[in-house]
Amino acid sequence: MNKRARDIDHLQGHWLLAKLGKKVLRPGGVALSQWMLNQLNLKNKDVVELAPGLGVTAKSILLHGPRTYTGIDEDENAVAQLRQQLGGARIVCGSAAATGLDDAVCDVVVGEAMLSMQSETIKNSIVSEAARILRPGGHYGIHELALVPNDVDDKVAEELKKNLARSIRVNARPLTEMEWAALLEQHGFVLESIKVAPMGLLHPRQLIADEKLRVFKIVFNLIRWPNARKRVVNMRRVFRDNSKNLSAIGIVARKL
Ligand SMILES: C[S@@+](CC[C@H](N)C(=O)[O-])C[C@H]1O[C@@H](n2cnc3c(N)ncnc32)[C@H](O)[C@@H]1O
Repeated sequence: MNKRARDIDHLQGHWLLAKLGKKVLRPGGVALSQWMLNQLNLKNKDVVELAPGLGVTAKSILLHGPRTYTGIDEDENAVAQLRQQLGGARIVCGSAAATGLDDAVCDVVVGEAMLSMQSETIKNSIVSEAARILRPGGHYGIHELALVPNDVDDKVAEELKKNLARSIRVNARPLTEMEWAALLEQHGFVLESIKVAPMGLLHPRQLIADEKLRVFKIVFNLIRWPNARKRVVNMRRVFRDNSKNLSAIGIVARKL
């Protein structure tokens, strides 16, 4: 097996998709991100984005005219790319659970497709960090994976998490809508809006809507890299087989 094939076998699902040319790496796609950003009234606000990844939402945030934008991602390569793409924006390489930012420095915190992949302890640390850096009355917008329905059978949820972890090589632990709500409320947030949408990361309709002409590059790479194709077909099968119990969720909450 050559190095590329080995890399492809081990890459976390989102970095595999990024290697193929995909830029939108969140379950509800650009549509759910736009819904969330529209709720947040970003104009003239100090905005912190946790885990901006390849910067698609960062660019949308900047179009809303914030006063400042700071992105925090733990991946050095993503940070280097973001610094190149986003010119004057402040991009920090670091953990969302310990941003190094001062208390109450921002009006809005945004985080997409990053809490779902954390343990319960780290989820709590990240939400607590978001609460710490927000000013009172500030807003936190998240876009994550949700288990559905709220009373999903424990065994079904455990099996789903196992299959998901095996296929995306990330120990993903999505929560139900009620559990996401409880997590935010425990850290002093009041929920303002919630939207549940299909988990369409690899659904053809969402792929085209999110990636537009980049779809051709993704398909071309899938044709020439059989190992990547095998993994993506497997990921898509797991998403499809679990579609009754897996959704995307956007939540906007206010810090008291
Ligand atoms: C699935 S990608 C999502 C990227 C982007 N938010 C999007 O929606 O397209 C996950 C991102 O979270 C970042 N990440 C994961 N855990 C993190 C943490 N604890 N602190 C900072 N960044 C983290 C990864 O480096 C990666 O960029």
